[in-house]
Amino acid sequence: MAEFERIVILTGAGISAESGIDTFRSAGGLWEQHRVEDVATPEGFARDPDLVLNFYDMRREALSKVGPNPAHEALARLETEFAGELLLVTQNVDDLHERGGSRHVLHMHGELKSALCTSCEMRSPWDAPLSDRPPCPVCRAPSLRPDVVWFGEMPYQMNRIYASLSEADLFVSIGTSGAVYPAAGFVQEARVHGAHTVELNLEPSEGNHFFAESRHGPAGTLVPQWVDEVLQH
Ligand code: OAD
Repeated sequence: MAEFERIVILTGAGISAESGIDTFRSAGGLWEQHRVEDVATPEGFARDPDLVLNFYDMRREALSKVGPNPAHEALARLETEFAGELLLVTQNVDDLHERGGSRHVLHMHGELKSALCTSCEMRSPWDAPLSDRPPCPVCRAPSLRPDVVWFGEMPYQMNRIYASLSEADLFVSIGTSGAVYPAAGFVQEARVHGAHTVELNLEPSEGNHFFAESRHGPAGTLVPQWVDEVLQH
């Protein structure tokens, strides 16, 4: 029997760093030269919707210039070859897990390639600009915003994530600083229910002391090694 049967993986900006996407906390609290309060809060959107829509249009467009790295690809391999249950939760709004081959990805902070209608509340797959105020494909109102969870908003599918954490026998956190809740609390939730906990990160994260095991280095190297180990058991 395999060593682990139910795995929950949480990824953050660090897994996409080697693909060329900046992490959040690497640039002195600024995200691509913008204050987080201006581009990642409902208040910032209400104050200056053009700035926010243009900002996410640029982020979406930038995705076409990057590609998945060996860490994304290794997690896709794990999804295919692991015989037990696997839940891959990402805080990232990029699509590099999917382009690396993962078929089931829970984007708890939303996705750049999705639009949310503020009139009918429907979500639609989206790969075009939003700053020119296109109509919602469902209700036709020109009320689309990025389908990205901003500070002060509730991350997606928390019930499902907590249910999986309570049953997991292994929780792995990859490339995340452990600075933003509720994701930063997943390790404690998994531990309380008896899971082994592993951190794979460039450096010790803020919550490093909560993990039973830590490995530090670039995700593109650590993740393929770790996946090999899990699949060998
Ligand atoms: P952060 O920028 O806070 O943290 C990225 C982590 O990745 C840091 O701990 C880095 O040391 C690590 N790292 C950098 N390069 C790496 C590499 N090559 N390999 C492995 N690790 C590496 O990003 P997140 O933790 O994802 O939320 O941030 C969490 C949330 O805060 C984001 O989802 C976003 C942000 O504000 C929202 O937008 C709601």
